[in-house]
Amino acid sequence: MRRMVLLREQVREGTLLVVNRQHPLRSSQKIELINVGNGVQMERHAAAAFNECVRLVGGRETIVPVSGWRSAQEQKKIWDDTMRKEGACFTESYVAHPGCSEHQTGLAIDLGKAAESIDFIRPDFPQEGVCRAFRTQSVRWGFVQRYRAHKRQQTGIAEEPWHFRYVGAPHAQILESRDLCLEEYSDFLKQGPVNLELGGVQATVFYVPESGAKTVADVPDGLVQVSGDNCGGFILTVWRWRA
Ligand code: DAL
Ligand code: ZN
Repeated sequence: MRRMVLLREQVREGTLLVVNRQHPLRSSQKIELINVGNGVQMERHAAAAFNECVRLVGGRETIVPVSGWRSAQEQKKIWDDTMRKEGACFTESYVAHPGCSEHQTGLAIDLGKAAESIDFIRPDFPQEGVCRAFRTQSVRWGFVQRYRAHKRQQTGIAEEPWHFRYVGAPHAQILESRDLCLEEYSDFLKQGPVNLELGGVQATVFYVPESGAKTVADVPDGLVQVSGDNCGGFILTVWRWRA
């Protein structure tokens, strides 16, 4: 065991941030952006995982990045334009409020199947062929389909089969296998740590509530990753190689 100090501002940083209407993006951290094609950019770890997954499934020609990182201004413009064209019901279903879109983190990407014309707000990303292969494989690369019909109450957004969110390993595997959306993850981890093995490496994931400007946590030995949840706590991942 060792003692770690977690700073309050770390609650607002990391790959596991919940960003939604109730929890706007509050990080002022500079995001390192990488182009993933079609003029679309993602945060660099998310971009590397995305590129590798697309290559693995042979999707370079078929899978089109439609929208990745967005500035707050861009999100506001998308919101205003969609409101004008489609009205409030549609917009509330498919566009996050300005300041409350996880596209602003650089960790989200909308994908379309290559076609002459691709809808910007609701691109077609079917459940078959290469797109299906991407869906299946992308979990191993740390991506989840973020908005599901049966989680609308929690996320506030309708089913979006085109929107993928990078959370990293082993979190994508945990969320998918337990049918959790990101909004449910911290509460789930508050019940106790999750242990799992990925390719011979042991991972332990646990939750630590923020308890002031500096939170002190006792952490098992291993390689530690910390992400805030943007909701008052930290999610710690400890990786250990089996002897
Ligand atoms: N389409 C998602 C909800 C966004 O605008 O962030
Ligand atoms: Zn999206």
